[in-house]
Amino acid sequence: MNTTANTTANTSYAAVIGHPIGHSLSPVLHNRIYQMLDLDIFYMAFDIVEENFEKGIDGLAALNFLGFNVTIPYKEKIIDSLDELDPMAAAIGAVNTVKVENGRLIGYNTDGIGFLNSLKMNNVVCDGKRILIIGAGGAARAIGISLVQENPRKILILNRNRNRGVQLSRDINEFANRNISDFVEHPKEKVDIIINTTSVGMWPKIDESPLKGYLFRSSNIVCDIVYNPSKTLLLQQAENFGCKTVGGIGMLVGQGVKAIEIWTGVRVDKKVVESVTKELQDKL
Ligand code: ATR
Repeated sequence: MNTTANTTANTSYAAVIGHPIGHSLSPVLHNRIYQMLDLDIFYMAFDIVEENFEKGIDGLAALNFLGFNVTIPYKEKIIDSLDELDPMAAAIGAVNTVKVENGRLIGYNTDGIGFLNSLKMNNVVCDGKRILIIGAGGAARAIGISLVQENPRKILILNRNRNRGVQLSRDINEFANRNISDFVEHPKEKVDIIINTTSVGMWPKIDESPLKGYLFRSSNIVCDIVYNPSKTLLLQQAENFGCKTVGGIGMLVGQGVKAIEIWTGVRVDKKVVESVTKELQDKL
């Protein structure tokens, strides 16, 4: 593991900023990947309070950080501080990755791409499929907008708050420039892939599921972005029906890997991704 003890004058830096930040797994994830790829980069977590937000960002740019990740509560606020915004991040309305390029700040969102990469690692194909997204918050927006590039047949949005759900399906249609998404009032059984993007089922409330009593079809592929526990009640239910399932740890790794690729231009090998995913999973 890279440590501050083996940094030198040539070491590059990256970070995650948020408030609070104590539970972030990003430093472990990034520093392990840098070590495996033999990259002289050190990654830190900074807890920045709201009144120091702009000063904190200016500091990272002035110190020539390669880039930084942004987490709760600043994923939307950061947009006003950027010099350039990637179109997908603009459609999502949130930024989790900033690249510092000659002092200029360029914003991206790698959450959705990270999730799609974890599907690919699990040999899940979205092309031509009917996909049900549960939730319409930040994670659902990142996944729903990113999914457009995979050419699914339909992206259905199921959400407790109707207005938020309807808005997300509209935004997906606008980004796709075609009618690819609908809001649905009830979970549909005629879908191929189901993705939970809500926190329902997350530790400590592990006996909750966003689809209690749902009759899965064995051909359904069921995904959860919750990674603690690694097998949520939703995934256990689905497995009881014989479904293939994908847990949330791959999205966490995938968004970090994509950020590294944006900052360094180095492509992270599938074997490294698999190995880091397993190591993180074992740490939980
Ligand atoms: P994130 O950025 O992690 O996606 P968020 O933006 O707060 O977090 O969004 C949380 C999503 O989970 C929302 O879609 C929320 O539904 P509402 O829009 O109806 O609030 C959904 N969610 C959270 N707790 C839920 C619960 N107990 N039951 C159903 N949906 C829930």
